[in-house]
Amino acid sequence: MTSTSSVLPGLAEALHDKLTSRTARVGVVGLGYVGLPLAVEFARGGFHAVGIDVDPAKVEALSRGESYIQDVPTADVAHFRQSGHLSATTDTAVIAELDTINICVPTPLRKTKDPDLSYVVSAVEMIAAHLKPGQLVILESTTYPGTTDEVVRPLLEKRGLVAGRDFFLAFSPERVDPGNPTWNTRNVPKVVGGVSPACTRLARALYAASVDTVVEVSSPKVAEMVKLLENTFRAVNIGLVNELALMCDRLGISVWDVVDAAATKPFGFMPFYPGPGLGGHCIPIDPFYLSWKVKEVGFEARFIELAGHVNGAMPHHVVAKIADALNTHAKAVRGSSVLVLGVSYKRDIDDLRESPAIDVMAELEQKGANVSYHDPYVPTVHSREWHGKRDLASVPLTADALRQADCVVVLTDHRVFDYAEVLQHARLIVDTRNAIKGAHENVFKLGAPARN
Ligand SMILES: NC(=O)c1ccc[n+]([C@@H]2O[C@H](COP(=O)([O-])OP(=O)(O)OC[C@H]3O[C@@H](n4cnc5c(N)ncnc54)[C@H](O)[C@@H]3O)[C@@H](O)[C@H]2O)c1
Repeated sequence: MTSTSSVLPGLAEALHDKLTSRTARVGVVGLGYVGLPLAVEFARGGFHAVGIDVDPAKVEALSRGESYIQDVPTADVAHFRQSGHLSATTDTAVIAELDTINICVPTPLRKTKDPDLSYVVSAVEMIAAHLKPGQLVILESTTYPGTTDEVVRPLLEKRGLVAGRDFFLAFSPERVDPGNPTWNTRNVPKVVGGVSPACTRLARALYAASVDTVVEVSSPKVAEMVKLLENTFRAVNIGLVNELALMCDRLGISVWDVVDAAATKPFGFMPFYPGPGLGGHCIPIDPFYLSWKVKEVGFEARFIELAGHVNGAMPHHVVAKIADALNTHAKAVRGSSVLVLGVSYKRDIDDLRESPAIDVMAELEQKGANVSYHDPYVPTVHSREWHGKRDLASVPLTADALRQADCVVVLTDHRVFDYAEVLQHARLIVDTRNAIKGAHENVFKLGAPARN
């Protein structure tokens, strides 16, 4: 690999000036849950932000001034579109006109749980084809430590430009939390680590216009590892509390009471809550990027593997709980109607990716249950998404629908649900989120003693 020499005279200062005066043209590659909010914040910060995506439907929606991401209001997209601060295109040639390029493309796992960097590689190859001296490239996609140095940098340097000398390169992890009304792209501190001090300084200058706090770290590797620590921390603690829920189940103790009481300790404890399993694009996936990477150096990431094992088994425990609940009404899973409330992977959002509801519904169907669901945020679940025999459409949540189901299962505790009504009309309820407070004859909770 080429070593970083000193910056070509004037390049860094020229870009710094453009960033501080907001005259830089900034680009975002990948306009999904991460990229679109970022592009909008850049526009709000005063830049002309250009979004680049391979999906023409997204580009067309943005060009019409419409948002397709729940946390990004259409009014904002329309406003910045009209003011000329936001545009979108599928045409990669625009890269040559940009001063900065942030990469926000997916980083999924392969079926073997190995990292799938194909989206990052194709985005970087596309950027490399248009790369010019003086540009700043920042990878934001979550990935294993070393990706920026070992994968992105060599691809960008293929045509002779050198990172830190001719162009600038950094990693900055995305910390977006979809559906969070308090923390957003602007007020969550942004960690940045460049391949050289000049790269870090320029990355800071870019974000400083749009993000309240920028935190510098010494290298891209540190920044990459920061994100994996954060997500592994969550995966492991959720695994711990899920295991505790299973223990409480056997011991006849309510895990919900235990966690709430423990959370009164003012120091040294942070509450995590059990549930039907992990979902979303981050927690079930990112830690495996780290465990895969450390295998290369002969290290076994035992906490990560164990948490994956415990969390991955939760949907099955939920199905067992449903079977136990039906049993008290002298019913088998086969032939019973089960109405699932909430299928997105967490509360108040529309994202179905990796949702444990999919596994719960698939296992119920496999066992012969007649599965239906209600979710105001997810109008349909296609057969390929839930591995079922048919497409499902969200059924209206009526007193009749609740009365007719042999079992109603709360998988995602959306705030819009009227739990009093659910309790009033449902014959039998399995609640995996403690959405229905207190103990009731017909409510079976994950990690709590049965009442009948
Ligand atoms: N969603 C989250 O809550 C979240 C939070 C933190 C970090 N992340 C990370 O951010 C990254 C992006 O996640 P996301 O949820 O925004 O994904 P997403 O699937 O919502 O969006 C990715 C976008 O990239 C586009 N794309 C794919 N390949 C492309 C290419 N070569 N050129 C241009 N566009 C391309 C896709 O069409 C899509 O619109 C991932 O690494 C993820 O792990 C996500």
